[in-house]
Amino acid sequence: MATVTHRLAVERAESLDPHDLAALCEATNAAIMEGGGFGWVEAQSRAALERHFRGALLVPERELFIARLDGEVVGSAQLVRPPRNNEAQAFSATLTHAFIAPYARGHGLARLLVRRLEERAAAQGVRVLNLDVRATQETAITLFEGLGYTRWGTHPAYARVNGQTVSGFFYYRVLETPRGRSTEAALGPIE
Ligand SMILES: CC(C)(COP(=O)(O)OP(=O)(O)OC[C@H]1O[C@@H](n2cnc3c(N)ncnc32)[C@H](O)[C@@H]1OP(=O)(O)O)[C@@H](O)C(=O)NCCC(=O)NCCS
Repeated sequence: MATVTHRLAVERAESLDPHDLAALCEATNAAIMEGGGFGWVEAQSRAALERHFRGALLVPERELFIARLDGEVVGSAQLVRPPRNNEAQAFSATLTHAFIAPYARGHGLARLLVRRLEERAAAQGVRVLNLDVRATQETAITLFEGLGYTRWGTHPAYARVNGQTVSGFFYYRVLETPRGRSTEAALGPIE
């Protein structure tokens, strides 16, 4: 049987045309309904999702990355830098809202999405990337641990989903510097 080769792509979105925005909203609702990720528990109206993504494009500390399978937008993730007044944490950032629609999973897109976001973060001087997941998001846990993220803590009352309190896991990863000083020289030892 012939194997189908898919085209995988991830890009940083500075704007979204109506077709891509519609595909992103559809992918988001598909992921919400399947039960994973994004904070939302119930499917959202198109208007609410559009407001969210248009807002993400406007916030200076936030960058939106979109994943495409054969050209169609099927997932996204966001890179969030601390606000400018938070000098002490300016070396770090958070990877959040990562998801791939159920109909596009298993092709390596999430791995590519995370790696591209890390590259962008590192190029901007981010040395530590933080993220957190519900303890029930087993696929995401396998993904992030496989990509070298270290679990440093568990929050016992992290989220409420369908009337149940769910614990959450907190992770970080030290990023490689793209050039110049080593990460250790830039950060000093991490105890
Ligand atoms: C987690 C998620 C993003 C993975 O997306 P994906 O595109 O299917 O993942 P990939 O194909 O890139 O797989 C990368 C790695 O994830 C893990 N993984 C993916 N699917 C898996 C599965 N069904 N079971 C176990 N591990 C799995 C594996 O480690 C895999 O690496 P491998 O292929 O070398 O084994 C997707 O399942 C999802 O959106 N889940 C719901 C939302 C969520 O949990 N988001 C993260 C919280 S921020």
